[in-house]
Amino acid sequence: MKETVIDKFVRMCYDGFLQGWHERNGGNLSYRLDEEDIKEVEKLFVKEARHIEMPMAFEDLKGKYFLVTGSGKYMRNVPLAPEKNIGIIRIDDTGNGYDILWGLEDGAKPTSELPTHLLNHQVRYKATCGNCKVVYHAHPANITALSYTIEADSKILSRILWQSETECAVVFPEGVGIVDWMVPGQVGIARATAKLIEKYSAVVWAFHGIFGTGFDFDEAFGLVHTIEKASEIYLKAKSAGIVRTITDSQLLELAEAFNVKLNPEFLEV
Ligand code: 13P
Ligand code: ZN
Repeated sequence: MKETVIDKFVRMCYDGFLQGWHERNGGNLSYRLDEEDIKEVEKLFVKEARHIEMPMAFEDLKGKYFLVTGSGKYMRNVPLAPEKNIGIIRIDDTGNGYDILWGLEDGAKPTSELPTHLLNHQVRYKATCGNCKVVYHAHPANITALSYTIEADSKILSRILWQSETECAVVFPEGVGIVDWMVPGQVGIARATAKLIEKYSAVVWAFHGIFGTGFDFDEAFGLVHTIEKASEIYLKAKSAGIVRTITDSQLLELAEAFNVKLNPEFLEV
């Protein structure tokens, strides 16, 4: 049977839980629905939608539909009752509010990180010529642990990740951004993240977790998975004692073989 867009969204929530990235209500997910997706789900829409105002306007998202996880909801519970733990919202015609068209039952609200999700959608939409549809926030332990061992510097982080697993430079040739510690759930951290997500498909939040984006669920999940695995390898190698690593000329050989362009600001050759 065909997996619906809601099925795919639910599967990703639970996959993240199985990886151990979603303790308690940690992490959240959003997906921008296209015309075809909307046709698939519009039969579910309620007649009288709840309307909620937001602390800022999202000019470029007026009239856009998103599937989002609920605030305070546990990823492990999403498959048990999707209609209570996730929902579909439509950004209103002012861009400053939204209507809840399906789900988020019993008065639930979208994730507290909605400002970061929406701003990331707005910025990534432009950066990828409309291709980015998924924004994913998770709390993987190794990424978070790694953020305690370095300054909040995107070049330092990106080089560590590129050197920690051969595939990394191919998966994220532009590198990974990092935002220093800030209070989550606020417009300030959303703006700081959006500035970096314009250049990078993923941004780490120091001492907190990561935001990964992608064209579809596989791409966003795979990106976070790759960064988490590389972080784990780095921390293991560091605690065992690093005696050598992938060199910049090897990174360039890799880039040539896989036809990707590495961010030149992060190379030292
Ligand atoms: P929500 O439960 O509001 O999605 O918050 C979880 C989280 O990870 C905040 O950064
Ligand atoms: Zn979080």
